[in-house]
Amino acid sequence: MANPSLLILAGDGIGPEVMAEVKKIISWYGDKRGLAFDVSEDLVGGAAYDVHGVPLADATMAKAQEVDAVLLGAVGGPKYDVLDFSVKPERGLLRLRKEMDLYANLRPAQCFDALADFSSLKKDVVAGLDIMIVRELTSGVYFGTPRGITTQPDGSRVGINTQVYTTEEIRRVARSAFELARRRNNKVCSMEKANVMESGILWREEVQWVHDNEYPDVELSHMYADNGAMQLVRRPKQFDVIVTDNLFGDVLSDCAAMLTGSLGMLPSASLGAPMANGRPKAMYEPVHGSAPDIAGQGKANPIACILSFAMALRYSFDQGDEATRLEKAIETVLADGVRTADLMGPEGGQPVSTTEMGDKILAALNASL
Ligand code: NAD
Ligand code: IPM
Ligand code: MN
Repeated sequence: MANPSLLILAGDGIGPEVMAEVKKIISWYGDKRGLAFDVSEDLVGGAAYDVHGVPLADATMAKAQEVDAVLLGAVGGPKYDVLDFSVKPERGLLRLRKEMDLYANLRPAQCFDALADFSSLKKDVVAGLDIMIVRELTSGVYFGTPRGITTQPDGSRVGINTQVYTTEEIRRVARSAFELARRRNNKVCSMEKANVMESGILWREEVQWVHDNEYPDVELSHMYADNGAMQLVRRPKQFDVIVTDNLFGDVLSDCAAMLTGSLGMLPSASLGAPMANGRPKAMYEPVHGSAPDIAGQGKANPIACILSFAMALRYSFDQGDEATRLEKAIETVLADGVRTADLMGPEGGQPVSTTEMGDKILAALNASL
């Protein structure tokens, strides 16, 4: 049987730096675990714009549709701020998500014991934290129309974006959340603003409908998203699975990142419907961006990107045990006190580089055999 195929789109800024460490891990699985992948690479974001004049070439889009999974680094950067909106790096990423129909973005926030002291919150608030944010990824205000910037007759301008959700868009992401909850602690909290938005009312009603008709065994609660933001930092361990829309999910997951210690720790899986081979359409991407402030300095934490590959092992390749092996290797390295600069507390210490962190994780993988 052919090896499973991976398309690597490293992107911009720290994207290629963290992806270089993931490539080492992929090779390790081929060499040491008999898990070989057919890996190809291509351009996305500013890197694609520099070569093709667009942030995602049609040929790259076509490749992404064919492979078993896409691994994405990060896109964007100040160099591209001047570009027309339609060709900005972020448009490349949004096109991938939309055309692959990756509607469920799984953003787990787990606090490794070794980092519980490091979070900006008190240790007992975050120690042992394990929550899963399921962010709707292909609709809502990111894609709704009408949108744009128009000039009024009096010369003033109006910026417009529209939040649109349909029954089916809400129901399918709700099902993803309930399915995950059944394999975890059986609790879903749905977040919207049904108190001010009609789309929020629909969201609440449809999530409730899916619950009542298909998942009555799962505990469901509803919360306004602003309260949700507050509760996430007040008592995050009250949550198991959170399901929310595209924009709220973007903001709440960055917030959840700090519960784990650093944005450099948070992975994600963007999943769509099953393909003919039974695997879900999938792209794996760290939650963080291209971090222009540290790009090119070897300071980036590669763990979010490596954990995203662990999610690929689990959700695309049915290799849950190998995913756990990789997560454990990361845990070991952190427990040994190995830290990239973003994980340094006020007490200081000597941070390791991106490459050194990757090498330490490889050493821990070797030790796990
Ligand atoms: P960012 O996530 O790039 O950076 C925010 C802060 O977190 C910075 O201080 C950065 O140094 C730090 N950080 C992020 N990842 C880190 C890592 N792995 N290790 C250590 N520190 C890390 O967000 P931003 O600065 O708001 O955005 C920069 C660019 O990235 C923008 O163009 C934005 O659109 C883009 N972006 C892309 C993605 C993506 O590709 N998925 C996600 C978010 C932002
Ligand atoms: C993310 C990013 C993206 C988003 C941007 C870069 C398009 O912030 O993946 O969280 O807003 O979805
Ligand atoms: Mn974001």
